Amino acid sequence: MRFFLILLLAFTFFIAHSQKNSDPYINKSLIKVHSINEAIVDSLSEFNAIPISCRGSMLESNLIVDSLIIAWLNNNNIPFSILQNNMAKMINQEMDNIKKIKYQRSSNWYSSYRELDEIEDKIDEIVASEFNQKTGYVTKEVIGQSYEGRDIWAIKLSSVNGTDPKPAIVISGCQHAREWITPMATTYLIEHLPGLYYYDDDFNIFLNEADVYIIPIVNPDGYVYTWEKDRWWRKNRQINLGSDCVGTDLNRNWDFDWNGEQSTSQDPCSYIYVGSGPFSAPETSVVSQYISSIPNLVNHIDVHSYSSLIVGPWSSSDEPTEDNDEIFCLGIQMQAAVSNTNDYPYLFGTGTVNNLLYLISGGMVDWIYGGLSSLSFLYELRPASLYYFDSNWNGLLAFDNSEEEILPACEEFFQGVKEMIKWTYLENCEVATGCSDPAAENYYCNTLEGEMGCLYIVDVNTPPQA
Ligand code: ARG
Ligand code: ZN
Repeated sequence: MRFFLILLLAFTFFIAHSQKNSDPYINKSLIKVHSINEAIVDSLSEFNAIPISCRGSMLESNLIVDSLIIAWLNNNNIPFSILQNNMAKMINQEMDNIKKIKYQRSSNWYSSYRELDEIEDKIDEIVASEFNQKTGYVTKEVIGQSYEGRDIWAIKLSSVNGTDPKPAIVISGCQHAREWITPMATTYLIEHLPGLYYYDDDFNIFLNEADVYIIPIVNPDGYVYTWEKDRWWRKNRQINLGSDCVGTDLNRNWDFDWNGEQSTSQDPCSYIYVGSGPFSAPETSVVSQYISSIPNLVNHIDVHSYSSLIVGPWSSSDEPTEDNDEIFCLGIQMQAAVSNTNDYPYLFGTGTVNNLLYLISGGMVDWIYGGLSSLSFLYELRPASLYYFDSNWNGLLAFDNSEEEILPACEEFFQGVKEMIKWTYLENCEVATGCSDPAAENYYCNTLEGEMGCLYIVDVNTPPQA
């Protein structure tokens, strides 16, 4: 009897651990539907097609679909291209590649995506480093727990010099679990900002002038889930009463225009489910309380991927805010700094960014800007989806940015954050300059001078050669 019990246990263990993050994508394809309209979108939603882009609506996004949907499209003569016909295989290749890179001895920490434990080890190493023993700039604190009981950390970068409370900047990342480049980018800040303070003469004044608080992973449960069970999971892992579907979209759960009209759903099965009420998710509740307790908050960045965008408030409307000039001034400066780092263009705007992005209700940026009187921005890191789907299309999805792009994305983000920190004490933005050409993607109508940083994108809608 005991033998069978052990056998049964071993078997259950095997089953539980043989599940992979590619399993939900077996027999799924990635497609682009041409000349799509609202009616088709409605049907596709009913069939549970999954949009994969952070940008635009279902109307523009590439979709993950099963063979039933493909048959339906064929039967109804709706034209589409298949971009990738074996999503599970694609994820498996990506995971093999990650493993391979990790075991190459020379590999840089930023040359491969990292799991939650590795990120925590890395941060602990930075805190325990000799440099930090000497300077004491970096402290790590547990600010609360996720739904499944994982710690959520905040890392404070500060010096004992200067008068408290200094102006504070908050950087948050990984509300959306599948955006793997974002914890890499926030960890990069934790590693590299202290050295900048210490060694860069132009910069070192400012540990005395500003404190930076970094919450690298707002959604640890979702993040673990993307490594173990479902590569493209987005929400947290909270059970929903009365539903078999799990999870709340954390960036719809903030108490500002909660459950408003922009890109939200009250269906627990939706990937943009708003939750049962504002701050019903433990993660947004913990993080919002922590941020509210920070004295003298002046600025914030919430980092996502992908689309290569910097977006200021509002997120829920295209109305300009009271601080429009300031937001554009800093936004355009950050855009220039980020884009020039590796000559990879990012766009800046507010609201829909000239219709490039959908509006959202219940987002973190609007809660911070509208509720805490601090400025607030959202970054969508690489890739720009339009570049991703050009002739260089290599079969990878944009959340699966190739490993070579991790470091450049981190460097770009770092330059944007530097710009924000500088602004905190220099406030050197006087005139909102920007692109004054209405034909450009980043046209800004209140521009007073020049055609600074106009970006032109061609062939946005050209489907890749499949
Ligand atoms: N892609 C992110 C999300 O879905 C942010 C969108 C922000 N939109 C905006 N108009 N600011 O949560
Ligand atoms: Zn996101």
